[in-house]
Amino acid sequence: MGVVTVETSSERETVELGERLGRLLEPGDFVALVGELGAGKTQFSKGVAAGLAVDPGTPVTSPTYTILNIYQGRIPLYHFDLYRLAGPEDIDSLGFEEYFDGGGACLVEWAERLEGELPEGTLTVSLSHAGGDARTVAFAAESGRGAALLAGLFPS
Ligand SMILES: Nc1ncnc2c1ncn2[C@@H]1O[C@H](COP(=O)(O)OP(=O)(O)OP(=O)(O)O)[C@@H](O)[C@H]1O
Ligand SMILES: [Mg+2]
Repeated sequence: MGVVTVETSSERETVELGERLGRLLEPGDFVALVGELGAGKTQFSKGVAAGLAVDPGTPVTSPTYTILNIYQGRIPLYHFDLYRLAGPEDIDSLGFEEYFDGGGACLVEWAERLEGELPEGTLTVSLSHAGGDARTVAFAAESGRGAALLAGLFPS
């Protein structure tokens, strides 16, 4: 398991981190965003969209009521927010296969709701409060595309 932890000290820095990831995403990639309310998952997502060249006029918000927002950029970005799911869900029961296996990249807020059901090759990004405007951002991947993304983001 590879893990790289960085700290951001402003919203802007978190957005920029997301942007760096967005530039690397390819169809089929799966990014799990983990972290409490207000940790910065949506700000990070805003950056990912920008890095994928989504029109800057497109608002990137937590798709809390719709569960899924789709943005068209260099490739489609499927932005999920699973906060409203009542409990841990089987990924297969959600009916999202067409997205999860589709031609775009998946970015999933509240991926905790998919307990233990993350696809192989997932990149997990965990955000947490670190006092004031500071946030700890931990990138973790076991193998496959997640590991490749991690290496692309943080070349050794
Ligand atoms: N370093 C930072 N990184 C990200 N956001 C920050 C930072 N410092 C302050 N903030 C503020 O924290 C808030 C993060 O909100 P955001 O909607 O991104 O959180 P979230 O994790 O998506 O929460 P939710 O679970 O409610 O969707 C914003 O108001 C943002 O301005
Ligand atoms: Mg959010």
